Amino acid sequence: MMIRSARTEGAQRSGRPPALSLLVLLAAAFVAGPVFADGHEGSEVDVKYRQKLMSAVGANMGAISDIVKNQMALPGHVQNHASQLVRSADLIAAAFKKEIATGATDAKPEIWKDWGEYEEAIAGFRKAAKGLEAAAASGDPAAVGPAVRTLGRSCGSCHKPFRKPKEESYKNR
Ligand code: HEC
Repeated sequence: MMIRSARTEGAQRSGRPPALSLLVLLAAAFVAGPVFADGHEGSEVDVKYRQKLMSAVGANMGAISDIVKNQMALPGHVQNHASQLVRSADLIAAAFKKEIATGATDAKPEIWKDWGEYEEAIAGFRKAAKGLEAAAASGDPAAVGPAVRTLGRSCGSCHKPFRKPKEESYKNR
């Protein structure tokens, strides 16, 4: 307490409110940090996050096609991967909410110009993943193939209008 009051007095003598200036500095550092750290206004981490989400989608889809193509004896796995795709679909809109179409991203500006259509593409993907989930749960192997193809088409229906083609991908830059 002694130390504290001495500091307070010192601060008062110098005309600064105690501790406040430090608080302001800290707050400014927090706000400014992501802006000045790399000059990308924190956007880099947002893009990386949504790409990780999409990579998880790609991994689940890849796993499904491996299982189906090779008729692997993994009961319940297709249904499980399809459920993971449904859950991923629920994260896409929020992950893409911030408009960032420059830098290391394959997102086209059309996402934010036609946000309603982007949401429809998400809904179409979710529905197709639900469809595969149900087909896999039904125990009818003949229902799985067509459901996988419908799901695959739902990726394309979004990638075509909203993702840059492979030749223009940031991965090739
Ligand atoms: C609603 C739109 C939408 C749907 C549906 C969608 N994607 Fe994507 N996907 C994107 C966008 C946009 C990107 C580019 C993200 C970026 O680079 O910022 C992307 C990127 C990817 C990537 C690359 C991620 C990275 O590391 O850069 C993979 C893999 C991928 N998607 C797979 C799939 C698969 C497989 C499906 C279907 C099962 C699918 N996506 C469905 C919009 C979608």
